[in-house]
Amino acid sequence: MQEALIERFHELFGAGGDIRMYFAPGRVNLIGEHTDYNGGHVFPCALTIGTYGVARKRADRKLRFYSMNFKEAGVLESSLEELKPDKEADWTNYPKGVIWAFGKKGMAIDCGMDLLLFGNIPNGSGLSSSASVEVLTGFILKDLFGFEVTNQELALIGQYSENEFNGVNCGIMDQFAIAMGKADHAIFLDTATLKYEYAPFELKDARIVISCSNKKRGLGGSKYNERRGECESAFAQIGEVIGINSLGDLSEELFEQYKESIKDEVCRKRARHAVYENQRTIRAVEALKKNDIRLFGELMNASHVSLRDDYEVTGPELDTLVEEAWKLEGVIGSRMTGAGFGGCTVSIVKEEAVNDFIEQVGKAYKERIGYAADFYVVEAGDGPKRLL
Ligand code: GLA
Repeated sequence: MQEALIERFHELFGAGGDIRMYFAPGRVNLIGEHTDYNGGHVFPCALTIGTYGVARKRADRKLRFYSMNFKEAGVLESSLEELKPDKEADWTNYPKGVIWAFGKKGMAIDCGMDLLLFGNIPNGSGLSSSASVEVLTGFILKDLFGFEVTNQELALIGQYSENEFNGVNCGIMDQFAIAMGKADHAIFLDTATLKYEYAPFELKDARIVISCSNKKRGLGGSKYNERRGECESAFAQIGEVIGINSLGDLSEELFEQYKESIKDEVCRKRARHAVYENQRTIRAVEALKKNDIRLFGELMNASHVSLRDDYEVTGPELDTLVEEAWKLEGVIGSRMTGAGFGGCTVSIVKEEAVNDFIEQVGKAYKERIGYAADFYVVEAGDGPKRLL
C-alpha cells in the first residue's frame, strides 16, 4: 500500500526530492460523550486505522493537494497567500486550516508543498477522519519544516484550526486522542486541565467492535453547535447560584440540588447529561482498573440512554444498532460514539460472540433501517508517526 501511494504521488506531482510518508490514526471514544466542551472527562483511544500522508516541500509558495478518497476532485491547488477560512468547504480546508493555524501560532511556513492523502477510516462516520487529517498535517509540518512542537500542542492547534478555520466548535477530545494515542491503551483525559492518564485497554477475551450506521453526519451542518450553546446557557444559569468553572465541576448531588436554577427544561436535560456522563466516565475508568469489565459495560449502556433521552443526539440508526446489540448474550456494553446524529456505535463483545454479533446486528439493522451497516473489529493504536 505504501508503494502504491508513493507511485501515485510520483504520477501526480513528479518524482525526486525529499518525499516523506506519515500516518495519523482515527479515534473511538469508549465513554465520556459531549463532556469535552463542558470541562468533563473523556476516555477515547486512537485506532490502528487512520490517514496516510505523502508530502514534499516545493520551491514556490503553491499548495497542491490530492486525496485518494476524493479522486473525482482531482488535484486541488491553492497557495500560502490564499489561506482564508472558506465556507464552501471541501476536504482541503482541514490541511489548509492547520497550515493557517501554524502561521497564527508564529510558525509560518516559508514555502509550499505537495500533499497526497489516503484514509482508511470511513468518512463522516464519527471516527474523527477530520481530526486525523488535522493532526497528520501538523505532524508533517513539524517534521518537514523542523518546528519545535509537542504532540499535545499539535492537538491544540488542530482544535484551534477546526474552531476558527472550519467553524466547528469542537472540544479537544478527538485531536488529543489522536495526537497522544498509545497502542493497547485508552486515554483518561480531564478536559478542564488537560491532565491525562493512559489506562491499559487490553481485553482478555473480548474485542472492540465498531458498527457504522452509514448515515452520514457532517458536524458543521449538525446540531453540534446548538448542543454546545444549550450547555453554555445551562452553565450560565446554574453558575450564578453555585460557584463552578464548568458543568464538569458538578457532582450528581449538587446538580440535583441546584438544577431548578436552569429555567429552560431542554437546557436542564442537556446539563443533566453532561454532569452524569462525566461522573459515569470517572466511574468507568475506576471499574476498568479493578478489572470490572461488566460494570464498565453497564456504564456504556447508561451513557447511550442518556445520549438518547437527555442529549437527544442518537436517532433511529444508532438506537437500532445499540438495541440490537443489547439483545445479544456476549455483548458487555454498547453505545453510540462521537458527536452522534449518525456515525458509529462502539461495543465491547466477547471474542466468541463477535461473528454472531456482526451477523445478527447486521441483519436486524438492514431489516429495520433499509440499508446495511458496516462492522470493524478494532484495536487501540499509536499516535502519529513518520513511516518513510
Ligand atoms: C465530536 C467533537 C468532540 C466531542 C464529541 C462528542 O467528535 O469533535 O470534541 O465533543 O463530538 O463527545
